[in-house]
Amino acid sequence: MMQFKSIEEYHSRIKRILITEQEIRERISLAAERIDSLYDGIPILIVGILSGSFIFLSDLCRAVKVPCEIGFMRAQSYYDGIDSSGNVKITLDLDQDIKGHHVVIVEDIIDTGRTLSKLADILRQREPLSLDIITLLDKPERRAVDFKADLSLFTIPDVFVVGYGLDCAQQYRNLPYIAEFAPE
Ligand code: IMP
Ligand code: MG
Repeated sequence: MMQFKSIEEYHSRIKRILITEQEIRERISLAAERIDSLYDGIPILIVGILSGSFIFLSDLCRAVKVPCEIGFMRAQSYYDGIDSSGNVKITLDLDQDIKGHHVVIVEDIIDTGRTLSKLADILRQREPLSLDIITLLDKPERRAVDFKADLSLFTIPDVFVVGYGLDCAQQYRNLPYIAEFAPE
């Protein structure tokens, strides 16, 4: 648990707002329109990758009009420096069998790409009807494996960000905007 002496100290680590609430809202409604036109009334299963995606998912799923189920997964990646794609362990799995479903994965950020590329492989083996990957943020400069989302709402530079679901040591997830985080 990070310790702070005061609320001022807590907020002093927020360097600058990178993406405002308004900008996030606008891109989410565009993303929802894309989902609605892509699936055109066909039911989808939205899969949120915990924990970082929980706020993005809750706003996105309320903006789409197609019928949807919602499920969650949690994954941990271990990178041993030998296998460049690392190892991904599912620590919380879906309740639903995704076979026969149109699946939309919702992620907070793609950084090296390791977690999501492995997770997408695992989910494809379960034979969904389709798999669409949507990420709120993308840091392409940091990519270590060849991986691209089907839709990325914002491309950001190689800076550490917090807010709108994203954390630093579990803190700052509840900021309503996305901010660059200042190291100590
Ligand atoms: P990767 O794409 O496998 O490297 O891992 C992506 C995961 O790393 C994300 O789901 C986040 O949990 C975390 N992450 C990467 N960059 C940031 C950041 O700037 N802020 C907060 N979490 C981050
Ligand atoms: Mg994450």
